[in-house]
Amino acid sequence: MGIKILGTGSYLPEKVLTNDDLSKIVDTNDEWISQRVGVKERHVSETETAADFAIEASRRALEKSGITAQEIDLIVCATISSETLCPTVAGMVQAAIGASCPAFDVSSACSGFLFALDTAAAFIDRGGVRNALVIGSERLSKLVDWSDRSTCVIFGDGAGAAVIGKGDNYLAHLLYTSGGNEVIEIPSFGGSSPFYKNELKHPYIFMDGQETFKFAVKKIVDDVNAVLEMANLTIDDIAYIVPHQANIRIIDYAAKRLKISTDKIFVNIDKVGNTSAASVPIALSELCNSGKLKKGDKIIMCAFGGGLSSAACIIEW
Ligand code: UT7
Repeated sequence: MGIKILGTGSYLPEKVLTNDDLSKIVDTNDEWISQRVGVKERHVSETETAADFAIEASRRALEKSGITAQEIDLIVCATISSETLCPTVAGMVQAAIGASCPAFDVSSACSGFLFALDTAAAFIDRGGVRNALVIGSERLSKLVDWSDRSTCVIFGDGAGAAVIGKGDNYLAHLLYTSGGNEVIEIPSFGGSSPFYKNELKHPYIFMDGQETFKFAVKKIVDDVNAVLEMANLTIDDIAYIVPHQANIRIIDYAAKRLKISTDKIFVNIDKVGNTSAASVPIALSELCNSGKLKKGDKIIMCAFGGGLSSAACIIEW
């Protein structure tokens, strides 16, 4: 499909929560979290919303791209943790940066950014949209049950964004959903209708960690192999894989099965934690800023999570 990435940006809220800080809230410790998950610290918001993070990440991506807000014809934001259902995070970004274009949110949990990217790519391919701003932004600290040690140690807050334009650099892409609420569920606010008779669920993240783990490893491997086949490439043609940062052990297992050296896999989970839809674009932005990417490098982005969902794509730099 006809797109290329013109610039990326990311934003993390200032407050850093270390594993030692968490051990004062729940019965956990740095050793367990570091070894079982790979997170050492994460950022959590004290006052800012997912929209605030998205605005800052977008400003940074626009600056890197050299594209002005007026040249953006579409804004798509992936999020599951917006403060408001209406306005959307994308709409808040549009107002803040001074763009005048359609803007909407998409929801596909941790795979959300790649769903948003594919949506924006399809708009560009269809014609009429020259440049699009694609964002993943999450304040997951709002969805975490802070008394549940099996989830509160994993997640973090932040946003990543990419400006995309016409090009020939989107070499392969796939989206996958296997609907159901058995493995991961995040109920939304249940309301207070006097007529609704079902029990209301707590609006926190529920996750069967081990089932998610198995799904994640299998989908990274299957999806990466599938996009390689679509693009007629092999794993040796890939400069970097930018995976969803959910658990370092998931990444290591997948790397082994894909027979790719771990230094070709971008990892920032130790500093950022799992930021759901923001995870891949934050990692992408950090990889870009590292100066390691060269023109012509082929990178794979891949993600998995609630839905259950997964997604992968190959981008040529
Ligand atoms: O982004 C969305 C996608 N999400 C994922 O990909 C997450 C995938 N799953 C995982 O990353 C892992 O399954 C978890 C990190 C969630 C959990 O790790 P695990 O190795 O699967 O642990 P477990 O749930 O099997 O628990 C093992 C033990 C249990 O103790 P017992 O019953 O063996 O005595 C837990 O109670 O570890 C205990 N435990 C903890 N101990 C210290 C669970 N959480 C903690 C904790 N600190 N924070």
